[in-house]
Amino acid sequence: MPLLLGVNIDHIATLRQARYAKEPDSPNAEPCPVIAGHDALAGGADSLTIHVRGDRRHMQDADAYRIREEIKLPLNLEMGVTEEMLGLALKLKPEFVCLVPESRMEITTEGGLDVLASFDKTRMVIARLQDAGIRVSVFIDPDLKQVEAACEACADMIELHTGAFANATGDAVQTELDRLAAAAKEGHLSLQVNAGHGINYTNIQQILTIPHLAELNIGHSIIARSTRVGLTAAVREMKELMAAYSA
Ligand code: PXP
Repeated sequence: MPLLLGVNIDHIATLRQARYAKEPDSPNAEPCPVIAGHDALAGGADSLTIHVRGDRRHMQDADAYRIREEIKLPLNLEMGVTEEMLGLALKLKPEFVCLVPESRMEITTEGGLDVLASFDKTRMVIARLQDAGIRVSVFIDPDLKQVEAACEACADMIELHTGAFANATGDAVQTELDRLAAAAKEGHLSLQVNAGHGINYTNIQQILTIPHLAELNIGHSIIARSTRVGLTAAVREMKELMAAYSA
C-alpha cells in the first residue's frame, strides 16, 4: 500500500482570519479553503485535513461545510473532545475524525491526547462518532501506554505525534525516531497507524524509516512551500518524496 498524504489546509484560512479579511477568498466569495482543496486534489492529496478549533482561529464552520460539499476527497476533521465539536462532526459527517487535545493559549497542538486520563469521555466520543459511520483516530504521543489505551478505547486509528522528533536535535533525533518506530510496531498489531506534526520536505526522509505507516498528515510546511510554487506543486513535491516509502 502506498503511503497516503492528508493535506492540512488550516493555514490558508489563518491568512484570511489574521485580518478578518475577504482575501484570499475569491472575488466571487469562494472560500479560500475550498480553492485550496481543489488545488491539493490536483497535486495528488489523498485526503484533506481541517481542524475546526473551539476559538475558530482559522477554519470556520462554513468553510468545513463547503469543503464537505465541494471537494471530492475524504475529509479528516481534527477536533477537541467536546460536545460542541461532537455536534459539528455528526452534522458534517467527515469520513474521519482525529481527536486532539486543545488549549486556547497554544499556538498549535502541543502534545498528544492523554487517552488514559480522559478514557471514559474519549471512549464515549469515539463510540458516538463510529455509530454515525465515521472512522476515528486519536492523536497521541509515541508512548506505548497511550497506544494501548487507544486500542482499549476502540479507536480505528492512531496518529503518532511527530512534533518531538521534528524539534529534536543531536542524539535526541534518533531517540525520538526509535520511540515512533516502537509505537508504530505496537499500534500496527490492531490499528491503522498514521503520523503527523512538524513534518517537512527535509525530515520526511527520516519519517520514512518508521515502519507500518498508512498516512501522513502535513500542513504547515506544504502551505509554506505553496507561497513559492503554488499549492498543487507543493503537494506534488511532497507526494514524490513519500513515494519511496516501504512499510
Ligand atoms: N496532525 C495533527 C493532529 C495536528 O494537530 C496538526 C497541526 O494542525 C498536524 C497533523 C499538521 O501539523 P503541521 O502543520 O506541523 O504539518
